[in-house]
Amino acid sequence: SANTMWGGRFAAGPDAIMEAINASISFDQRLASQDIAGSRAHASMLAATGIISDKDAEAIKEGLLTVLSEIEAGEFPFSAVLEDIHMNVEARLKDLVGEPAGRLHTARSRNDQVAVDFRLWVRDQCDAADSALLALQKALLGQAEAGADWVMPGFTHLQTAQPVTWGHHMLAYVEMLDRDRSRFADARRRMNTSPLGAAALAGTSFPIDRDMTAKALGFERPMSNSLDAVSDRDFALEYLAAASICAMHLSRLAEELVIWSSAQFRFVKMSDKWSTGSSIMPQKRNPDAAELIRAKIGRIFGANVALMTVMKGLPLTYSKDMQEDKEQVFDAADNLMLALAAMAGMVADMSANRESLKAAAASGFSTATDLADWLVRELGLPFRDAHHVTGSLVALAESNGADLPDLTLSDMQSVHAGITEAVFEVLGVENSVASRTSFGGTAPANVRQQVSAWKERLA
Ligand code: ARG
Repeated sequence: SANTMWGGRFAAGPDAIMEAINASISFDQRLASQDIAGSRAHASMLAATGIISDKDAEAIKEGLLTVLSEIEAGEFPFSAVLEDIHMNVEARLKDLVGEPAGRLHTARSRNDQVAVDFRLWVRDQCDAADSALLALQKALLGQAEAGADWVMPGFTHLQTAQPVTWGHHMLAYVEMLDRDRSRFADARRRMNTSPLGAAALAGTSFPIDRDMTAKALGFERPMSNSLDAVSDRDFALEYLAAASICAMHLSRLAEELVIWSSAQFRFVKMSDKWSTGSSIMPQKRNPDAAELIRAKIGRIFGANVALMTVMKGLPLTYSKDMQEDKEQVFDAADNLMLALAAMAGMVADMSANRESLKAAAASGFSTATDLADWLVRELGLPFRDAHHVTGSLVALAESNGADLPDLTLSDMQSVHAGITEAVFEVLGVENSVASRTSFGGTAPANVRQQVSAWKERLA
């Protein structure tokens, strides 16, 4: 039989396959509370403007609360025949309150209804991402504070570059995550306008008050163009773009944790809570959570590309293609939140191995730049010459199977006669990092300053 919501002109119901491809209730039931909030605001407005009676509006609003409690209790009989969350809620409302239910959809369409529901949902996700990012920042800050002056190798090309401090490395991620937070905040601010009242696409002849519904739902103002209001999904894309960049940061950190927890590095030990064993190799402690974070990021990038692709060919205004926005965003949001929570847990519980960090920092000729700088500062060599002399010293040390501090003074003087005993002071990794006091540099003094500034900001 034909659909009770729109079946007036139809003699027969849809084919089973048509129903399967068309129905969205299996996933858009996640919009239930937003749908009901939007409908309650709409009903209040219809009464305030005299479009429906106060009595009908009260019956509708009460009935909607009952529907919500049924959904929350898991007692709601979702039906695929009723396609989506909007018609499921309205049909149940009709069972509960009768005739007034049929007046709720006055001056409204599912097109503005779904646009408002989804905006409210994505807006909440921006807030959720912000809280989860803050928690991860705090975990990183805890690590930074504990190891503000612990020396570790800094890498470029994953080759030993110069010694840095553990605290400085942790704070690099705190900075990145802070920009992620501001991207979600920007997206949230831009999406915070209400499509409700755009109706199907052209607006309505009823004397509605769009400011009233916008305000009731926490939007800054109603959207100014009804065509734009029902057909735009750039708010969801901005969320996915911010989520993708954030996910990329998480993936880089996850990659570092995988490398650092290996037997070859031993920079960190993951806690038992965040490690798994092997069923055959008894020695194993695998960083599965970090690996899964690194992998799940693909779903978030995928959602971003998928929705861009859905939207790119659509003529204005609404097309059913747009129903495909939700599963992508839901999956991306679920996995982003899971990745953020897992990363915060791993970071908070891991222990850095101060000795391994330091030993690694001292290998690989990591203070070669300090030596070149010393030749410039103390002997007045041009930097390019100093670079060349240092390169020869590195080659000499390497051929002895040693590192720079292991060379004797006469080894040094065989390459450049002006070198004195004082050079050995700059070859130690602690001195190296302590000297990097330029703004934003890795010196422990800088790191301590940054730690206390971040503590204040994140409090
Ligand atoms: N389930 C639809 C969606 O998610 C709701 C809007 C339907 N509008 C329509 N004209 N069929 O996009």
